[in-house]
Amino acid sequence: MGIIIKSDEEIALMREACRITARVLNVLTAAVKPGMTTAELDEIAEREAKLYGAKPSFKGYRGYPANLCVSVNDEIVHGIPGKRIIKEGDIVSIDFGVVYKGFQGDSARTVPAGVVSEKAKCLLETTAGALQAGIKAARPGARLGDVTAAIEEYAESRGCAVVREYTGHGIGRQMHEDPQVPNSTRSVLGLSRGVGPVLKKGMTLALEPMLNIGSWETKLDDNMWTVRTRDGSLSAHFEDTIAITEGEAEVLTSI
Ligand code: MF3
Ligand code: CO
Repeated sequence: MGIIIKSDEEIALMREACRITARVLNVLTAAVKPGMTTAELDEIAEREAKLYGAKPSFKGYRGYPANLCVSVNDEIVHGIPGKRIIKEGDIVSIDFGVVYKGFQGDSARTVPAGVVSEKAKCLLETTAGALQAGIKAARPGARLGDVTAAIEEYAESRGCAVVREYTGHGIGRQMHEDPQVPNSTRSVLGLSRGVGPVLKKGMTLALEPMLNIGSWETKLDDNMWTVRTRDGSLSAHFEDTIAITEGEAEVLTSI
């Protein structure tokens, strides 16, 4: 398929889809409270997206059954909302995207439910920081592997492990376009500093580091969706959709 370069008009439409994604995600993260179920977040996502005339993009994607992913504690990604009750001290990753006027937005944040441990706070800060490090590295003329290396170096310098088997991705009319954007130089894709496609203005990427407190290793639940840490340690996930511009990347999923 190859990497699709977007025109200024297409970027303008991406901006709209991504702004809606960010607004809904903001409502969702603010709604996280101990005592609520993860299904309640699904209801909020559906209702808020509707207000903007946007369609949640995950539902039905490869058979995914919900409007968003809610991954708690050792769940890394693709937690399916349901009867689970969020408890004081949990960390809650919310991943949400919409399609609007034919374009996609995709973003994720991990937030504390009430008061969380110092270790958990450090994980959240480090994962947010790793995403920022990736965004800073995503400049025209850089190689994709420079983004991977920037994310990994930031994460490992603060003692967190980087999930290797799941990646960020190109995004546009499709949620998943080329290229895959690994967060680890030890992924099977073999990207590292100075390696990979050269970034160009008009590329739109979803960067999404997933970091664990313990080991990088994962396991898949019987539901064939939910990915969790193999060792049961906490995991966090931050994602933004960005556009490569002439200078610093534009974060499309900011409000
Ligand atoms: N942000 C996730 C991703 O980039 C969301 C996909 S969940 C799915 O892959 F259910 F839609 F697959
Ligand atoms: Co994504």
